[in-house]
Amino acid sequence: MTTKDIGPKNPVQKGADATIDFVDERSGVKTGTRWFLFRNIPEGTSWFQTLGFTAMVVFGMQAITGIILAMYYVPDTQGGAYKSIEYITNEVTWGWLVRGMHKWGASVMIIVVFLHMARVFIWGAYKYPRELTWVTGAMLLLLTMFMGLTGYLLVWDQKAYWATVVAVNIFASAPILGPYIGDILRAGPEFGPATLSRFYSIHMLVIPGAIATFIGLHLYFIVRLGISEPPWSKRRLRIERDEEDARRAAAREKAKALPGSVNYPASWPVEAEEATR
Ligand code: HEM
Repeated sequence: MTTKDIGPKNPVQKGADATIDFVDERSGVKTGTRWFLFRNIPEGTSWFQTLGFTAMVVFGMQAITGIILAMYYVPDTQGGAYKSIEYITNEVTWGWLVRGMHKWGASVMIIVVFLHMARVFIWGAYKYPRELTWVTGAMLLLLTMFMGLTGYLLVWDQKAYWATVVAVNIFASAPILGPYIGDILRAGPEFGPATLSRFYSIHMLVIPGAIATFIGLHLYFIVRLGISEPPWSKRRLRIERDEEDARRAAAREKAKALPGSVNYPASWPVEAEEATR
């Protein structure tokens, strides 16, 4: 469809276009955005395919609320940590809301990531050529759960302390590497002030950085490969059937070329291909 020229543009739009053109000429931002956002999606795409994006939005919310909490939180084992959290909840304006959003957001993120993974599994979207998307996703799942573990200790009350002692003991009882992992997590042989600082830095620096990196990789694969078609898509079934037919035809041709071969019927089983190698 061609656009109709309806006269001069209004000055605001003209200014905006000129600014975008200026930036685009120097950075290629328009091409990049088009590559990232504008592409065809398969027929039958539904709300189920928005769960990954939902996980990303929840991660963004966790990052924003986490940054606000970090402005008030004090990682002090002599009661300061717990007091700072009480202060956030009872004194800071909207503090209860930000803390509540961060606390419940953690559970929401884990639930959404699991639902997203279940969708990917049921759709068979992990198969060729999306194996690396799955692997980066699996890393994201581990990191998300580790985020929950490290965040839980930060309140530094009895429940948080003992629950984390149990979790770290489970890690530490793994064969060979277990004791080392235990020492790294505790920042020594015992739980103490260094443990809280370690968990705090892992929780707010190491894991968010790793999650952001893996989301970047995950998105790169998704944009490069496009979103998969639902398992019931007629086009997908047709492609899979054509691939299977081509595989069978190739196996027949290979067998025909063998000395003393007979004329195999069209239904010649593909498994026999292995025997001809
Ligand atoms: C923080 C966690 C995660 C984020 C932010 C995320 C993000 C996304 C996004 C935005 C998509 C595009 C389609 C959609 O929105 O559903 C997607 C697709 C995909 N994700 Fe994830 N994901 C996460 C975790 C996982 C996990 C745990 C797995 C599996 C172990 C996984 C495997 C995949 C695969 C295979 C696709 C391609 C699906 C298709 O083409 O239909 N992701 N992910």
